[in-house]
Amino acid sequence: MTVHLVGAGPGDPELLTLRALRLLETADVVVHDRLVDPRILDLAAPWAERIDVGKRPGGPTDAQARIHAVLLEAARRHDVVVRLKGGDPFVFGRGGEEAEALRAAGVDVEVVPGITSAIAGPAAAGIPVTMRGHASGFTVVTGHEDPAASRHLDWDALARLGTTLVVLMGASRAGAIAERLLDAGMAPDTPVAAVQSATTDAQRTLRTTLAALDDHPVDAPAVLVIGTVAGLDVVDGHPRIHDDELERLAADLT
Ligand SMILES: C[S@@+](CC[C@H](N)C(=O)[O-])C[C@H]1O[C@@H](n2cnc3c(N)ncnc32)[C@H](O)[C@@H]1O
Repeated sequence: MTVHLVGAGPGDPELLTLRALRLLETADVVVHDRLVDPRILDLAAPWAERIDVGKRPGGPTDAQARIHAVLLEAARRHDVVVRLKGGDPFVFGRGGEEAEALRAAGVDVEVVPGITSAIAGPAAAGIPVTMRGHASGFTVVTGHEDPAASRHLDWDALARLGTTLVVLMGASRAGAIAERLLDAGMAPDTPVAAVQSATTDAQRTLRTTLAALDDHPVDAPAVLVIGTVAGLDVVDGHPRIHDDELERLAADLT
């Protein structure tokens, strides 16, 4: 028996991997999160059992242990069990814990990576997370840290890194995150984009600055992008390319 930990991508079913689609079509049971787009669940066979184990605010404190129990039970009853998670199963999806729990119970695990919202969210708004002249790296963090974590995020260090900062699970704490980064010395006019419900019909992008972020509500699910790339829309908009960068591009072409 094998449980397939499958990444469902950010929302749009066209962004599923071929492997994810094939597994969905053959699954006996699909155990899924709340954020998985209904259009993706529709791709499962009509006879497949669908189990929603999505956590809700104020839900039981042992919700994760209950998910492990559901997966073990499904693995005992069925040949093809798909554990479907939004984005990539190993990016803030607790996929690591689920894999460990299954392996400890003697159940085989296959991981099928998915397109993470950390990259696809910005991309859907025309924001490249790295770009010559803007950012030579990107850092992905949670905006909702586990209070019991043994090591906490060092926001002072994050503010100094100079890479694009991508924050998941930060919608309700956007103002507090901005304040923390401003306290750490990040420039108030640093561009910020909040890409909400990326790649779905409800996609909306808020463009603002770090200093003004607290003035705007951000609806979950959202990816916060902080850094100069957040001021760009290289697909539909007018990219703000610096003059020195234009000169470098012209030199590259000659
Ligand atoms: C528990 S994390 C799971 C992340 C997921 N494993 C991934 O790789 O995208 C949930 C967070 O992912 C982000 N997210 C997931 N889907 C999104 C979407 N379609 N648009 C914007 N943000 C999304 C939000 O920050 C949300 O709070």
